[in-house]
Formats: sequence, C-alpha cells, structure tokens
Amino acid sequence: MGEPLFPPLKIGSLTIGVPLLQAPLSGYSDAPMRRLARKFGASFALCEVFLDQFVLEVSKRSKSRFYLAVQDGDKPTGAQLMGSSSDEFVSAALRLVECGFELIDLNFACPVKKVVGKSRGGYLISDPERAIEIARRVRNALPGDVPVTVKMRKGYDESEKSRDAFWRLLDGLIDVGVDGVAVHGRTVLQRYQGVADWNFLRDVKERVAVKRNRPDLPVIGCGDLFSAETVVARMKASGVDGVALARGIIGNPWLFAQTRAALEGREIPPPPTLAEQKATIMEHFQAVLDLYGEKRGATIMRKFGVAYSKLHPDAEKLRMEFVLCKTAAGWFEILDKYYSDPN
Ligand SMILES: Cc1cc2nc3c(=O)[nH]c(=O)nc-3n(C[C@H](O)[C@H](O)[C@H](O)COP(=O)(O)O)c2cc1C
Repeated sequence: MGEPLFPPLKIGSLTIGVPLLQAPLSGYSDAPMRRLARKFGASFALCEVFLDQFVLEVSKRSKSRFYLAVQDGDKPTGAQLMGSSSDEFVSAALRLVECGFELIDLNFACPVKKVVGKSRGGYLISDPERAIEIARRVRNALPGDVPVTVKMRKGYDESEKSRDAFWRLLDGLIDVGVDGVAVHGRTVLQRYQGVADWNFLRDVKERVAVKRNRPDLPVIGCGDLFSAETVVARMKASGVDGVALARGIIGNPWLFAQTRAALEGREIPPPPTLAEQKATIMEHFQAVLDLYGEKRGATIMRKFGVAYSKLHPDAEKLRMEFVLCKTAAGWFEILDKYYSDPN
C-alpha cells in the first residue's frame, strides 16, 4: 500500500476523494461511459455539455430523455450547461438538479465556431461581466449544497486584453461564490492546437490561493493528460487540486486505473491484455444496448469502437470493421474475432 500523493478533493459540499475526474466530453460522456470511468477509478464524472434550451425543452417521453437520466451506479455526477442568457441558465440548472445531478458546471470554454458565434461557451471568457452575472444568478438560485463550478480556457486568445478579461472573470467568479473552477490551458482560438499551458494553471492556482486567499477553492487542471506520469508531474508543478482527463480516456478507461494508482502512491498497473479489453468493451456495449436499444446503441458504439481499437495490435483493420458494423450481432462477431487471444 502506498501513501496518497495529494490531499482528497472536496468541491463545495461534495466529497470527491482522490482528485481524479472525468471531463465533460460531448458525444462521449454519457451514462455508460461515466459508469466505466468510475469503475476504473474516476472519483467524479461529468456528462457532456447540455444547451440550456435543450434541457428546458426535452420531455420525459422524448428520444433524448436518456441524456438527463442519472442512474444509481453513476454517482456523483455533474451536469454541464451552456447558454448565453442567465434566465435560461437558471431554469435549466434547476431542472438538472431535479433530474438528480449533484453539481452544475457552467461552460465558458467551448471553442466551436457556431457556439462562440451565438455568444455561448468560449465567447463568455471575452465578456466577463455577462459571465459573472450568469454564475451569480445560478449560484443564488440553486440549493447551497449543490456545488456550482465553471469550466474555462486560459483566455479567448493570446492578447493582453484577453488575459485581463480572464483574471477579471476569475476574480468575479470567486466573489459570487462559485465552488470551483476547471481550466484547460489553451485559448479558445487555439482549439486543440499547440500544447496546453500548465504554467498558466500554476498562475491560476496561485491567484486563487494566495492573492485571493482562497486555498480551499479547488482549481482543476486539464489539457494533454495522456499518462499517469504526466498527471502526477503536472499536479506537482502547478499545484492544482485535481485533474480532469479527457481525450486520453476515450477508448482507454484503463488510464483511470493507472492514474489512480499513481495518485495513491501504488505501482502503476500494466496496459490491459486483449482479454481485459474484450471484457470491458462488452460491458460498455451491453450498457449502451440497455440504455438506447439495439439500433441506436450499435450506431452510438461505433465511435467508441474506433477509439478502443487504438490499443489493439491490429488497430487499422479493427477500426474499419467497427466503422462498418451496424448490428449488435456484428459487434459480438468482431470482438470474438479480434479479442480471442487469451494472453
Ligand atoms: C470530443 C470532445 C468533446 C468535448 N466536449 C466537451 C464538453 O462538452 N464540455 C467541456 O467543457 N469540454 C469538452 N471538451 C474538452 C475537454 O473536456 C478537455 O477540456 C480538453 O479536451 C482538454 O483535455 P485533453 O487535452 O486532456 O483532451 C471536449 C473535448 C473533446 C476532445
């Protein structure tokens, strides 16, 4: 048994524990993926971002109702909201709490052009007063024991004006009482280009803990976390209180087990064998079938298959088979064909 490398994480009233989270991932972090993330070692998982208007419009009988379902094995779970008007943010946040989500995260980060063009997501980093007002209204409207957190990028672009806006936003968020911030160390304009700036994460933590004298307010870091060793190094160097894994865990939930072991001071387990991969993919697929039914489930699972194939020695051939597969029976055939090696 090892010694934990970092203190347990708390966000508002929520005790998270080992400071290892699953980031929100549009198109991926649905209930089956969140459950697997947790099984492999994530202490907390966020669903993909919801547009406030979607949350307000979706009815209990609609095809999209799955998105708002929180299952027993999937807790604690946070929901992330995107929008541009504080009225709609507030109504949607209240509905999500009603659905069982235990934390509400506000997306001031999304770099997608269509989103930014509608004054949503990453646009709000460039309009700190509006963003602060949204956070203030949501914080005041929700019960005190439901944490409100904010996801940001390091700025809209690399300009000084943008940097000033980030600090103004961060200070305002602290003032209105948010319970934590998560920062991806790239600008909105950068999208996924270049490398994530973890020096910036260190500056954020220092500003919150020292300048604003709020060492208790958690700062979560994300960006380019693809191995357990990288997570430990980035946490040590930046001083952040936790990390959210994103691209690294799509098709590789074992990264959670490896990272959790490292954070707990244990030996890092080896990569999964083919038999372990097969068992996990089957479990994932079964959860997807249970939630969405066969037709929709097989389609949804395709992108996960593509991601899982990256760990396989015959990745390219397997990827094509997953891409072309349309039925559950076809899935099981592919798994038997490619993952039968008992090593
Ligand atoms: C496919 C995909 C979907 C994403 N969806 C969301 C989202 O819904 N909300 C959000 O805040 N960030 C989203 N992100 C950003 C990630 O949460 C994370 O901040 C980013 O990928 C940086 O971490 P990484 O470099 O380790 O992937 C998404 C990223 C990817 C690749």
